[in-house]
Amino acid sequence: MEDLVSLCKRRGFIFQSGEIYGGLQGMYDFGPLGVELKNNLKHSWWSSMIYENDNIEGLDAAILTNPSILKQSGHEDTFSDPMVDCKSCNLRFRADQVPEHCKEEDLTEPRQFNLMFKTNVGPIDDGTSFGYLRPETAQSIFTNFKNIVDSTSKSLPFGIAQIGKAFRNEITPRNFIFRVREFEQMELEFFVKPGTDEKWHESWVQKRLDWWVQQGVPMESIELYEVPKDELAHYSKRTVDVMYKFPHGLEELEGIANRTDFDLGSHTKNQEDLNITAKVIENKSSNSRLAIQDNESKKWLVPYVIEPSAGVERGILAIINEAYNVEQLKDGKERTVLKLRPHLSPVKAAVIPLKKNNEDLVKLAANLKTKLQKLNLGRIVLENSGNIGKGYRRHDEIGTPMCITIDFESLEDNSATVRDRDTMEQKRIQIEDLPAYLMQIIND
Ligand code: GLY
Repeated sequence: MEDLVSLCKRRGFIFQSGEIYGGLQGMYDFGPLGVELKNNLKHSWWSSMIYENDNIEGLDAAILTNPSILKQSGHEDTFSDPMVDCKSCNLRFRADQVPEHCKEEDLTEPRQFNLMFKTNVGPIDDGTSFGYLRPETAQSIFTNFKNIVDSTSKSLPFGIAQIGKAFRNEITPRNFIFRVREFEQMELEFFVKPGTDEKWHESWVQKRLDWWVQQGVPMESIELYEVPKDELAHYSKRTVDVMYKFPHGLEELEGIANRTDFDLGSHTKNQEDLNITAKVIENKSSNSRLAIQDNESKKWLVPYVIEPSAGVERGILAIINEAYNVEQLKDGKERTVLKLRPHLSPVKAAVIPLKKNNEDLVKLAANLKTKLQKLNLGRIVLENSGNIGKGYRRHDEIGTPMCITIDFESLEDNSATVRDRDTMEQKRIQIEDLPAYLMQIIND
């Protein structure tokens, strides 16, 4: 983990938030390369959900949330961790995570601590007008269910997907970006006919595993965990966690839950008129019925929902951990190389003129950069440093799949030296062939 944290800071992937003021626990900022990697990962998820499935729609909803939503979802009453205070060191811990140096007799009785951030909405701070920062993106998918069904004419089965920030006031944030207070979720709520839910649950577990493998997280580093009944979230009938061997241990990368008709049911008025199976929270404030008409029976029903819910930061940590390699070279030196899947690489290609500031070389390199950039594959950089060796080292470390060197021969024969990140092999390629060559590498 130390090596990853150090690489992330040194090369500009991830910084501690507010570091110049001593930081703020559980918050991180994504730097120039981190934001590219994160956007690439989110794009990959988004296209695998929405662009590859005509029955999945996207959403980008507000983060500040009406407290009634989180009352009905059960979060106001149950989204909490037991915590204890140590009277000796004056620190607060989750009851199951008290460090060894605290003595049993110094600890208070466990008390429930709600994990939601509450904030004042509007100018008057008298406690009557407040909102929560959403603890999961899922709730705004449920509350927009009818809007989306009405505006897109969907019928079952169909899904609504969203990527966005969520917030949890973790008692003890830890393990770099693994457990943080502000993070991003990639959540799909897939609505199905009751009775078909178990089959769909299985199929989403498999689809999600396939996707993680495509991101460079191999099955050898993954285990599935069947969450025991007494540990299930209040809304879940069954949850399967995708567990990954993080540097700090085996922990959850994604959870895939069968949330039944609990959420749509709890947000619905006149619940008793519908055939809801979950033990819903009585609703006196909603003005809507989150039901859909069954195509065959024409009856109104509240769908069941399967939810694959993944954390972006956890995904980034797993992907960087898998990609990180230190290799011994033949000349006795070593190199650090980030073998990211090319579609995730923050920089897709570096164009390097052999000699710094040489007008002809830089002009040819700049033209090539512009041409490659127009392919819209991601960021292409022009490295006008004149130090090829240093350029290769830097681009190995940040996972750039290919470096293209423009030399004096290029001015004569319009070819360039292309160096492959993983094999370090170099070959001459005609400049006009490079767009197709790069496109193949990135889309492979
Ligand atoms: N939506 C599931 C979770 O946030 O844990």
